[in-house]
Amino acid sequence: MSVNAESQTVRQLLAWAVDRLAEHVASPQVDAERIFMHVLGVKRSDLYVDERVASRGEEDLLRLLIERRRTLEPLQYLTGTQGFRSIELLVGPGVLVPRPETEVLVGRVIEKTSGIPRPKIVEVGTGSGAIALALGGELLQANVWATEISSDAMAWATKNLERLQLPNVELMEGDLFSPLPSDLRGKLDVVVSNPPYLSDSDLARAPIDVRDHEPRIATTAGPSGLEVATRVIHEARQWLRPGGWLLLETWAGQWSSLKILLEENYEVVSIHPDLGGTDRVAEARWPGSGR
Ligand SMILES: C[S@@+](CC[C@H](N)C(=O)[O-])C[C@H]1O[C@@H](n2cnc3c(N)ncnc32)[C@H](O)[C@@H]1O
Repeated sequence: MSVNAESQTVRQLLAWAVDRLAEHVASPQVDAERIFMHVLGVKRSDLYVDERVASRGEEDLLRLLIERRRTLEPLQYLTGTQGFRSIELLVGPGVLVPRPETEVLVGRVIEKTSGIPRPKIVEVGTGSGAIALALGGELLQANVWATEISSDAMAWATKNLERLQLPNVELMEGDLFSPLPSDLRGKLDVVVSNPPYLSDSDLARAPIDVRDHEPRIATTAGPSGLEVATRVIHEARQWLRPGGWLLLETWAGQWSSLKILLEENYEVVSIHPDLGGTDRVAEARWPGSGR
């Protein structure tokens, strides 16, 4: 590894990086440390005792990633991974970074399927595959089908499925339920989705990392924010078995409208909080074709 005579030590570079990020991100020190740990493959504590000189290649990459973070590109796009429940997912531009709030949605699906020997679950809008792959790993007897309309997101989900090697999860590209085999109609125990749920005006007010860097198709549904959820609510009726459950991630500002839509079509409609105590998971049971 050749080292340029003007190369800086890791500690000097870290001080530069924190300074460069100050006034741009909320936690410049933490963000710089994460980027350095990722590029150098070291623990946090090593960053402060390391008097070694960064190689030219390391320094170039560190500088590039710090500049990208300065534009508020999500940190996970730069480090390439995000933890979700017990799995680690590869992520990058073109796919939504899975959020900790969504972990509770997986927990609710697991609860709904308890006692069912081989549950059939469909996830609509899988993105990185977070929900479907967490479910596949935690419910080894379940069959999970996951759909996704964005080919960029699908490429990330496919990489994640290949890494995690879950034979009970199948990924399918296409609009909502359309790629599913038709013999699943009326047979599903659970339909789960974290649909795009911002309105166009919510997006305009969203943090820059969401607004300018995450895919619009993943965050934003249209003028009301309910466009995709409404379609999922209507179409899921053809796929759920009588007594099957629809679980949707939502947010507090949308719950009253979503509740009306769910009550028009389903029974036992309720909302459950995430780990921070905020209303997050809407649930409803499909009574069957009698309604
Ligand atoms: C909020 S993101 C959720 C991603 C992932 N499930 C998660 O929780 O991290 C919504 C996802 O739905 C996908 N999507 C949007 N419209 C869709 C549609 N009509 N059919 C299938 N997927 C869709 C988006 O591309 C995006 O990946």
